[in-house]
Amino acid sequence: MVEKIRKVVFPVAGLGSRFLPATKSVPKEMLPVVDRPLIDYAVEEARKAGVEHFVFVTGRGKGAIEDYFDHAFELETTLSERNKEAALKALSTTQLSHGSASFVRQQKPLGLGHAIWCARDIIGDEPFAVILPDELVLHEQGCLAQMVDAWHSHGGNVVAVAEVPDDQVGQYGIVAPGKDDGRIVEVKGLVEKPAVKDAPSRLALTGRYILSPSVFDELKKGAIGAGGEIQLTDAMASTIGSVPFHAVRFDGARFDCGDKAGYLAANIAYALQRDDIGPKLVDLIPQLKDFVLKEC
Ligand code: UTP
Repeated sequence: MVEKIRKVVFPVAGLGSRFLPATKSVPKEMLPVVDRPLIDYAVEEARKAGVEHFVFVTGRGKGAIEDYFDHAFELETTLSERNKEAALKALSTTQLSHGSASFVRQQKPLGLGHAIWCARDIIGDEPFAVILPDELVLHEQGCLAQMVDAWHSHGGNVVAVAEVPDDQVGQYGIVAPGKDDGRIVEVKGLVEKPAVKDAPSRLALTGRYILSPSVFDELKKGAIGAGGEIQLTDAMASTIGSVPFHAVRFDGARFDCGDKAGYLAANIAYALQRDDIGPKLVDLIPQLKDFVLKEC
């Protein structure tokens, strides 16, 4: 029996249409939060959770992600010749050890569930994690590490959840809760993007999953769900009853960086946390009041 979550899948093949025109030629997952792309934070979070193998589900126009985690020979040699030690050090998070990254192509963005299914041969028959890079969680230990702790206690499927307001319920997969100890919630059902009146709770899936490989048996059916896409939520929902299923209310500040306001808020929050930028930003923020729209 596998006692560790060794592999993570990063689905990065989506269109990023909410960030057009920027995402016409730059993958959404390469948009920077301060000075690191979203995907870099996702890899860091997976590392903190003890993950050893990183699977990227890419698509057309996503080559920059592969290059980012490659050895940049010319750049590193030039920086080294010029004694740019700080710049060289900044590249350290981009190094993945030899053989620890796999890239698989999703030829068409048919949905998150389909993207995960594209990774089936690389994952094989063991439990694995999924991180959506456009959801950031600012926390020392990381969100996935907290979920791995819950998985050691409960096994099966574990998802990260957060309470969302009524007007956001229709943007997320929503949990039908069972037993709830305030942190760990038993998952009795899941509904993808429900109308508020049909939502079984306000507990939304927030882009972090630990999944039993049995989810691939459901994904291979290719059932079309909300928005005409093959939904991971629907495949997970079909496994309820056959594997234990729990949700974790994690610690940390969450930013939905698939949304412009959430992305900008993440940039400010992450910058404020940094010794090199935080104090300068605090000085600049008062000047921004001149830009506030009159009607706000
Ligand atoms: P999103 O729906 O947030 O991303 O999917 P998107 O489709 O790229 O963005 P918008 O809505 O058009 O602005 C969450 C994650 O799943 C990946 C995306 O790349 C993103 O990281 N994804 C989504 C895939 O890999 N394949 C898909 O078919 C759909």
